[in-house]
Amino acid sequence: MRETDSVAGVSPQTAQLLPIPPDRIDHAAIDRAAAVIRQGGLVAFPTETVYGLGCNALDDDAVQRVFAAKGRPADDPIIVHVLEDWPLSRVMTPGSGARTIGVLMDGFWPGPLTIVGDRAPGIPDSVTGGLSTVAVRCPAHPVARALLRAAGVPIAAPSANRFSYVSPTSAEHVLADLGDRCDIVIDSGRTDHGIESTVVTIDGDDIIVLRHGAVTNEELIRAVADQGLRVAELPSHHDRSGTSPGMLARHYSPSSRTLAVTPGLPYLRPPLETLTASHVFYLGYEDRLPKLPPDWQFVSLGRLDDLAGIAFNLYDTLRQLDAPATDDVLLVELTAVLGLGRAIDDRITRAAAGQILTATGKLTAVLRAR
Ligand code: TXA
Ligand code: MG
Repeated sequence: MRETDSVAGVSPQTAQLLPIPPDRIDHAAIDRAAAVIRQGGLVAFPTETVYGLGCNALDDDAVQRVFAAKGRPADDPIIVHVLEDWPLSRVMTPGSGARTIGVLMDGFWPGPLTIVGDRAPGIPDSVTGGLSTVAVRCPAHPVARALLRAAGVPIAAPSANRFSYVSPTSAEHVLADLGDRCDIVIDSGRTDHGIESTVVTIDGDDIIVLRHGAVTNEELIRAVADQGLRVAELPSHHDRSGTSPGMLARHYSPSSRTLAVTPGLPYLRPPLETLTASHVFYLGYEDRLPKLPPDWQFVSLGRLDDLAGIAFNLYDTLRQLDAPATDDVLLVELTAVLGLGRAIDDRITRAAAGQILTATGKLTAVLRAR
């Protein structure tokens, strides 16, 4: 269940809601939000992926308040947002990775690609969780860009949700989670991608994907192949805790009991978790309709021929169906397709804390500690 009580280090307050439509930017409102950032305050703002909870990345106290507001462990580093025409050396020391980082910046910035490299001296420990590296991205969203331009400082921002809960794709989501824990929430409507940025790190000529996201492996490969660079993934047995501490088995996760489901099961017999459930919601796809027990409710996440639409809907649908303190069960079908499907399936699996119903003639829950 989600906490609603006050938390040590967080003084309850009511955020000011600032509507800023992306196609009609109110620069006076942006200036107000930018002033709050410069003064060490917390501003929730839209990016093209999800909403972020932003503060001045160079202000250690402000960064610590972001961690406290989210309830995020101090060893889980956050992303620093910059503009593409600022010197990267302000936040990162690219060193031997400079050529590869340059290729990625040219190909994907502004956009939903986060690049991990050695951190610049000005970046406080609190941002990087004590690591020698920093994660940097340049957002494409016009409101995020206007805020960065007006603030004139790099903005550190994790997703604007309570730690381990579903990421926010609208200002309503942010208000529900953090409305009493930040100074300003900018409302620019729903975010475009609905799923977070792709996080990569560099190892020689290898670009290693630490978190699948809005930029697909296929897009990365297409952009770098003729530069003699390769796209690789961490081997699945690799201990990710050192390289990307945020990649937890349970993350992006609703309060209701959530299980991932392998597609194409020969028949769906109710798994144990659903026998006593008041409601069982089955989140699937209109172009791959399953046969369900009559008392389960089918909820469409979209069509598999429109993966961007599924990514756009996923978090919003999980939040709408989530019913804390009930015995409802959410079953979410994996797409099992490549491209954006990798990121979608990664989030579904983490929302389910790694519990997947698989077809082995009958349904089996692959249980891991939640
Ligand atoms: O789309 C996004 O990336 C959004 C928007 C707001 O920009 N932000 C976001 O932040 O998703 P957050 O904090 O929810 O996720 C950041 C991810 C985590 O998995 C974290 O572990 C990883 O980036 N990360 C941050 N710094 C890192 C570092 N130095 N090395 C490796 N991974 C890092
Ligand atoms: Mg997050």
